[in-house]
Amino acid sequence: MHIKSLRLFFGLPLPHRQAAAIDVWRNGLALDGRLVARHNLHLTLAFLGSQPVERLGELQRLAGQVRGQGFELRLDRLEVSRHGLVSLGTSQPPEALLQLAGELNDTLRAAGYSLEERAFWPHLTLARQCRKHPVLDSPPDFVWTAERFVLFHSTSDEQGTLYHPLFHWPLAMPHL
Ligand code: 2AM
Repeated sequence: MHIKSLRLFFGLPLPHRQAAAIDVWRNGLALDGRLVARHNLHLTLAFLGSQPVERLGELQRLAGQVRGQGFELRLDRLEVSRHGLVSLGTSQPPEALLQLAGELNDTLRAAGYSLEERAFWPHLTLARQCRKHPVLDSPPDFVWTAERFVLFHSTSDEQGTLYHPLFHWPLAMPHL
């Protein structure tokens, strides 16, 4: 029997306004790699990889157990990795972000999902396979309030990659 599988990950979506601002700023960097499409800009919280479609119900239930707090995220660093991945990062990861990613990853692991072993690295990928190091006039400064997290389904075809939001969960906002 053929079991349909989906490439899935949990992440923070980027509001349209911030995505547009980041896209305009990114154009000024003249990056030479493969740009992440503006509508796909996001921050990954937990990467699940390929999963049978039958697991969607369980994933919804598990994510529903996570009690995250909302937070303000300031992306103020441009990071370039060894493999030419250019991303926006933060010099001060909010405690609520680290807790959310930690709780989500712990909950999924406890349910038997095998996830990335590396420590959580909050980053918003802008481009991959860049060979030239971008030069900045001034550091970036993009701020947004994370109010929910999302389960995304990633699809790829000759038109490109698309991250489809499947389900979302609100983050508590008592203090903001
Ligand atoms: P990246 O941007 O650093 O490549 C959808 O593919 C998202 O999941 C991307 O943000 C990607 O991170 C992340 N991702 C892809 N493969 C991953 C892996 N093996 N472990 C953790 N995150 C991964």
